[in-house]
Amino acid sequence: MPAIHPSILNADQAHLAAELDRVRTADGLHVDIMDNHFVPNQFGGPSLVETVLAHSELPVDAHLMIENADRWAPVYAEAGCAIVTSHLEATAAPFRLAAQLHRQGVGVGLALRPATPLAAVESLLGELDLLLLMTVEPGFGGQSFLEPMLDKIAAARRLVGRHGQQLRIQIDGGVTEQTIVRAAEAGADVFVAGSAVYRADDAAAAIATLREQAAT
Ligand code: DX5
Ligand code: ZN
Repeated sequence: MPAIHPSILNADQAHLAAELDRVRTADGLHVDIMDNHFVPNQFGGPSLVETVLAHSELPVDAHLMIENADRWAPVYAEAGCAIVTSHLEATAAPFRLAAQLHRQGVGVGLALRPATPLAAVESLLGELDLLLLMTVEPGFGGQSFLEPMLDKIAAARRLVGRHGQQLRIQIDGGVTEQTIVRAAEAGADVFVAGSAVYRADDAAAAIATLREQAAT
């Protein structure tokens, strides 16, 4: 089943509780965290995760676009996330970090920037619950889907299939009613959608349409 995770980066932050309520039919919430070093933008922190969890029943996946994920990812696990996703490029000891997060009882995600080859994560797949393939350069909502990522998604799906693993393949960036079709065909099964959901007048309808499109 394809899962839709709205990204609250694109929500009206002044009315966050209402914005969370608009997406309550989603499968999870995607909380972006940015430190102005790993990406040229700043957003969120552990207290944002706590605020979100206080106002939503949905499981939260935190996407840490921050340096020194080894130090910070456990803090987000402690904050109550269901899945904590670090960038491979910002992680010094990903095997150790995965073991630490599993000990804390949360799902482990690793994210790759668009230009980071899949081979960089191959030996780690057995440690992961989620592989996040960025389909835009991380840092901002509302960008266009990078078409060359379709081959990377397909390659990731083949790799995961060969290893007979359960891990999910999430994509993030530029997901629309159009791009989700080919991304799902290529093998992604968890879809982050920021502007596609939050810019819609009817967020619940947008979520339902994305889910249907991904299932076709
Ligand atoms: C971008 C973030 C995304 C962003 C997606 O770096 O990681 O989660 O909110 O926004 P859209 O769906 O508008 O591309
Ligand atoms: Zn994200």
